Amino acid sequence: ALSPEEQAFQDRIDAGERIEPRDWMPEGYRKTLIRQIGQHAHSEIVGQLPEGNWITRAPTLERKAILLAKVQDEAGHGLYLYSAAETLGESRDEMTQKLLDGRMKYSSIFNYPTLTWADIGAIGWLVDGAAIMNQVPLQRTSYGPYARAMVRICKEESFHQRQGYHIMMKMARGTDAQREMAQDALNRFWYPSLMMFGPSDKESVHSAQNMAWKIKINTNDELRQKFVDQTVPQAEFLGLTVPDETLCWNEEKGGYDFAEPDWNEFFEVLKGNGPCNAERIGARQKAWDDGAWFRDGLSAYADKQQARRMA
Ligand code: 3HC
Repeated sequence: ALSPEEQAFQDRIDAGERIEPRDWMPEGYRKTLIRQIGQHAHSEIVGQLPEGNWITRAPTLERKAILLAKVQDEAGHGLYLYSAAETLGESRDEMTQKLLDGRMKYSSIFNYPTLTWADIGAIGWLVDGAAIMNQVPLQRTSYGPYARAMVRICKEESFHQRQGYHIMMKMARGTDAQREMAQDALNRFWYPSLMMFGPSDKESVHSAQNMAWKIKINTNDELRQKFVDQTVPQAEFLGLTVPDETLCWNEEKGGYDFAEPDWNEFFEVLKGNGPCNAERIGARQKAWDDGAWFRDGLSAYADKQQARRMA
């Protein structure tokens, strides 16, 4: 049974009220939000790595400028989200340390390699497309700082998706070699994109509680279905084939029936056995180590300023 405070809190949630940092909240609400917002922030920062790989290899100056802008946006998304998580009492340094020692996750999708330029199109179209599907409802999540961060992030995400789809249009209508690269990218990113929505609802450990607290507005399977229903016509418009022979329109459910991702692969990637896990964490560890002198300099300067003020 809920304590009087927990009941009062739940009544506020059920009334659609926003919870702010200084409000009373159950410890479980605080912990699950630090977990989700922190991992969301880690996803934005680690997500810069696969795309960053192509900034120096972009086919034109225009594409290079667009990709630079997108990767820079992702860094900003990470900072908004770390700031939202910090309002719950966990510092960015603590969350970073947990990422580096495997106690916090980042989205599985970023453990797959970007082998060709078409992958940059597929990431914008599918990965940012899936991120938008998941982030739009999060604008209405019950925790104020998280919901407000989402409003700004969703505006920038739509640019990310448009530029990716434009790359796919260019290549799907290009030479045979370009069209084959676009199809190959769709083949490799389709199922990992479906995994971004999380395990199936029956496997999801946090969904029930997070739906009750209106942290999660739609279930994992609902958003995955919406993503498939929106994306299949876009693939058809490109003249590309979704790599799922079982895919077919189901009139009575008003959506596509489709094959689920390989959940063994999903849980393997979460355990750290994906194609690029070690490389991604290695890059973040190096960034942390290489930045130590700069952080020390900043704190030394801040201490000196503080000492001057106290003198
Ligand atoms: N990758 C890594 N871990 C995942 C995952 C994925 N695709 N899907 C689920 N998990 C983890 C969960 O974190 C949880 O593990 P934990 O207890 O150690 O945190 C476990 O698998 C069970 O999954 P649940 O469904 O029970 O967990 P959630 O209720 O948290 O649902 C979620 C998972 C839908 C990803 C939810 O956390 C969420 O909506 N997060 C916010 C959005 C987000 O993080 N998106 C990631 C991509 S961000 C991005 O793509 C940036 C864009 O700019 C490209």
